[in-house]
Amino acid sequence: TAAEKEGYPHYMIKEIHEQPRAINRTISPRIKDSLPFFEDDNIPDSFFEDCSDITIIACGTAMYAGMVGKTFIQNKLGIPVNVAIASEFRYERPVITDKSMVIVVSQSGETIDTLEALRLAKKYTQKTLSVVNVKGSSIARESNYVLYTHAGPEIAVASTKAYTVQVASMYLLGCKLGLVTNRLSVEDAKEFINNLTKVPEMIKTVLTQEDKVAELTKRMTNATNAFFIGRGLDYTLSMEGSLKLKEISYIHAEAYAAGELKHGTIALISDGVPVIAIATQDHVYSKVISNIREVKARGAYVTLISKDEVITDKTICDVHIHIPPVADEFTIFESVVILQMIAYYTSTGRGVNPDQPRNLAKSVTVE
Ligand code: G6P
Repeated sequence: TAAEKEGYPHYMIKEIHEQPRAINRTISPRIKDSLPFFEDDNIPDSFFEDCSDITIIACGTAMYAGMVGKTFIQNKLGIPVNVAIASEFRYERPVITDKSMVIVVSQSGETIDTLEALRLAKKYTQKTLSVVNVKGSSIARESNYVLYTHAGPEIAVASTKAYTVQVASMYLLGCKLGLVTNRLSVEDAKEFINNLTKVPEMIKTVLTQEDKVAELTKRMTNATNAFFIGRGLDYTLSMEGSLKLKEISYIHAEAYAAGELKHGTIALISDGVPVIAIATQDHVYSKVISNIREVKARGAYVTLISKDEVITDKTICDVHIHIPPVADEFTIFESVVILQMIAYYTSTGRGVNPDQPRNLAKSVTVE
């Protein structure tokens, strides 16, 4: 009903706007003295000890949140992380031991492939933890430990707030793991957690650009293909941005690691093809910019998301979306909101109901 949508035309856009609150609710109870704190979740520090490697198992958007977790944990802690698609993991040979940590990510806690993958993983290790939004769900009950995200009910099929709280949870878990294994100093952890607590306010600032994003999607409604490019964390985010656009606008979209474009996909770039380029990671910024020049030279219509105040050079992009400058690990929370709004307004611009895309279910409980 209209009342449940609190004045918003769709659940999806309402849920996009709920992200600051959802993140606050998820992280606040897990922070004490600017450090991660899981006592109320009954996750002991011993869970994080003696971990040789990590496998993150999930489907869809939850899997893309896992991809962020992988890049973050590997870069920050140097622990090997593998992300497994649940429907693949459950039918292949698991390469895990009793020292492997398995993190299962699921909004509903009921996705059948993810649940079966968890059951299989438990034959190898008892270091299983789930990051789940729905209380008392099967995955939450069957994993050894659970960290509940507090996004509140997510109604729209396209996941938005569940993703950002999953990423925030991966960051809290990674930070704890770093502290327990002495890979992260208390000082660095505190700085990191303080940055994390600023995320809700940052997202509010980004949400003020809604009209500008809605405007730019007018160029996308007639597209048949779209590309999302980035490097590092921005590449993992590109995958989520591309999935979001596909599922609710029915435009074919692909995510590419920006440096990989020249190995094939650039052949698909022609006049007017929309490319959404994300360049927020300082150490590869100039690399992404030169990749953007390559697609721009072939006629792409480029929307650039970056920390730059302004981009005046028209040879780089057609539209620039500025996000407030924050440490590289945190730009993802800002950029994803832009990508969610791009998907939403492209969908509504094409006359699709973003809350109920064809062929998709909110929770896939049968194989
Ligand atoms: C379905 C939904 C996706 C979701 C995926 C995994 O495909 O449409 O939005 O990401 O399932 O769901 P889960 O509840 O396990 O996170």
